[in-house]
Amino acid sequence: MQRVALVTGAGRGIGAAVALRLARTGTAVLCAARSLESVHDTADAILAAGGTAWAVHLDVTDPLTFDDAIAEHGEAIERRGGIAWLINNAGIAETAPFLRHGRETGVDLYEKHLRTNFHGPRRLIERFAPEMLERGHGRIINVASSAGLRGYPYAAAYVASKHALVGYTRCAAAELAGKDVTMNLVCPHYVDSPMTEQTVARIVKKTGRPAAEVREFLAKENPGGSLVSCEEIADVVARLCGGDDNGMLVELIGGRGLIPDAQAEQWRAL
Ligand SMILES: NC(=O)c1ccc[n+]([C@@H]2O[C@H](COP(=O)([O-])OP(=O)(O)OC[C@H]3O[C@@H](n4cnc5c(N)ncnc54)[C@H](OP(=O)(O)O)[C@@H]3O)[C@@H](O)[C@H]2O)c1
Repeated sequence: MQRVALVTGAGRGIGAAVALRLARTGTAVLCAARSLESVHDTADAILAAGGTAWAVHLDVTDPLTFDDAIAEHGEAIERRGGIAWLINNAGIAETAPFLRHGRETGVDLYEKHLRTNFHGPRRLIERFAPEMLERGHGRIINVASSAGLRGYPYAAAYVASKHALVGYTRCAAAELAGKDVTMNLVCPHYVDSPMTEQTVARIVKKTGRPAAEVREFLAKENPGGSLVSCEEIADVVARLCGGDDNGMLVELIGGRGLIPDAQAEQWRAL
């Protein structure tokens, strides 16, 4: 039976690459984001390549949209046994000095980041993990960040939200041990994606440095010396979905380098 994956933030960047990659494994992909137009582009690319995909509006901060997104294609999803793989990829990243996260922007950036980057994935897991446990199979991948493992200046809200996601996943995975429902973490350093382009634009605006120089600076910040590609993240996600690892944290450092926290044989082949 063809399985179904739900990929959040599938309209661009990492999420789009993950959706396309999982579709290549024969998985039907529910491509989700707030902007329907962007996820239609991803779903259309999957369909054009002979795969199965649906584009749905889903806002990870609004649980009401979870059921609406599923209901839209409910019968097709049920026929395939429900959501088997959940890829919590959607995220936001804004910057400000840590004491000015509220004052500079007029919104509390701590609450905003936690709502999207932590409570979003948590609520989606609470919506779909019970069904996975009932069926006795499921794969959940949380796309955190190197910001879930260390600090970066001017990114306190983003870093706090990603640390929350890492801590939560470690606890949940420990509780899932022994079940065929697994939860794993992917922690990339700077990625060649639209989110990083926004970071580049912000630094250019603030410093007046040329964009190419800023991009190069960020690439050199990565331990692997270059930006992580969306495709290499998609490969790791596909591998975690297809395997039995649980509680694994894979840190992608750039230059196709990665640091799995369990040095399993299978990871050396990547
Ligand atoms: N770029 C990096 O350097 C980097 C490094 C490490 C980790 N990450 C993480 O990787 C993930 C993807 O990053 P990216 O670089 O691909 O970002 P991106 O290019 O900005 O794409 C983010 C995606 O998330 C969606 N999204 C944002 N808020 C959402 C919400 N409330 N509900 C549903 N979808 C939402 C966006 O679509 P809509 O706006 O249409 O909703 C978009 O499709 C994020 O969690 C990010 O924190 C990124």
